[in-house]
Amino acid sequence: MRTALVVGASRGIGREFVRRLLQDGWKVYATARDAAALDDLRAAGAEALKLDVAKPESLAGLGWLLDGVKLDLALYVAGVLGPDQGAHEPPTVADFDAIMHTNVLGAMQAIPLVTPLVEDAGGKFAFISSGLGSIAGATSSGRSWLYRASKAALNMVVKSAAADYPKATLIAISPGWVQTDMGGPHAAVSAERSVADMLRVLAERKRTDSGGFFNHSGENLPW
Ligand SMILES: NC(=O)c1ccc[n+]([C@@H]2O[C@H](COP(=O)([O-])OP(=O)(O)OC[C@H]3O[C@@H](n4cnc5c(N)ncnc54)[C@H](OP(=O)(O)O)[C@@H]3O)[C@@H](O)[C@H]2O)c1
Repeated sequence: MRTALVVGASRGIGREFVRRLLQDGWKVYATARDAAALDDLRAAGAEALKLDVAKPESLAGLGWLLDGVKLDLALYVAGVLGPDQGAHEPPTVADFDAIMHTNVLGAMQAIPLVTPLVEDAGGKFAFISSGLGSIAGATSSGRSWLYRASKAALNMVVKSAAADYPKATLIAISPGWVQTDMGGPHAAVSAERSVADMLRVLAERKRTDSGGFFNHSGENLPW
């Protein structure tokens, strides 16, 4: 049986990854922060793990919780959008810390804990990035300035870590504009569609694609 880890699985894209992977017969370890979400994940058939990626001590416990597990697929989905402001306003330190800790530092702390378990299975570790993290694509207004900076940083984290873990395939992937709490009800694609697309793209990627940045349709995105 193939084994997956979904970090940030309480709702939205992460929860849909869990639903779909369980449906496809995977063993799924899924993380959430609160008791209700953990109960929901357990009831769905996942191994529920309590984790707040913005708390280093919480992340440190993840390695212990996953001791001996080999991961065919790991997904870092946890993320926050933050204020919808551009470069006319400085971000607050609190907003900067909240967004960077969740979107970037959490991934950097998860990588040394989780990637060896992915290497043990010769598996894949995908990080949900965003087209808004593409520096080449930043040709319009700087709205969501902090979020864009955080996802560009996440992309660098993935690209540079890929070289350190040659037996795993590390991928940054954009889910599209998705109907979730973050994307809103008018977004272009459902979570079901986005996740189905991303799972297909990830299944098609090979070791030589490690360190790449793709969208949910499988196209290479410019850095
Ligand atoms: N929706 C879109 O259009 C879109 C587009 C591009 C990229 N993305 C990316 O896709 C990912 C998932 O987004 P979504 O649309 O599913 O958003 P969402 O519905 O707002 O869900 C965000 C998820 O991240 C978790 N999370 C936030 N902070 C966390 C923390 N400190 N520790 C652990 N988990 C934390 C949330 O858990 P709680 O329930 O505990 O808050 C929730 O499970 C994010 O990385 C996002 O940046 C989304």
